[in-house]
Amino acid sequence: MNISKCIGAAGIILFMMACGAGSSMLRPVEADVLKMQSSGHQVSLDTLKIGFKLYTDHCSGCHNLHKPKEKSRESWEALLPEMFHRTKLAESDQELVKLYLYSKL
Ligand code: HEC
Repeated sequence: MNISKCIGAAGIILFMMACGAGSSMLRPVEADVLKMQSSGHQVSLDTLKIGFKLYTDHCSGCHNLHKPKEKSRESWEALLPEMFHRTKLAESDQELVKLYLYSKL
């Protein structure tokens, strides 16, 4: 193997590792639960996990998944009604997606 192929392979592996870390950061963790509870939302880790699943299942069909931190809470509040309208999620499921998103801001 010549040196440039070798560097190329290392680059691909690093890239894959970086992507893996990114998606695991999107996953709900206990710290997100505590953050929500300290702002008065009685949520459990399971609730956030369901919200996360709904979010990945329903919000990445038309475009890549937008990361929660891309927007402020105000921007999410402004754009979510339009996006929920496109997904046709039930209202109770919309709430779960919102809780998930806000737990990651
Ligand atoms: C039926 C297709 C469709 C689905 C499903 C959908 N979106 Fe979108 N989304 C779009 C299109 C088209 C745009 C870009 C144009 C626009 O803003 O209307 C967009 C744009 C966005 C943007 C960027 C808006 C901005 O102004 O920067 C965000 C964030 C977003 N969507 C989040 C979501 C979330 C969260 C969900 C799930 C609840 C979702 N989308 C589901 C079609 C969809």
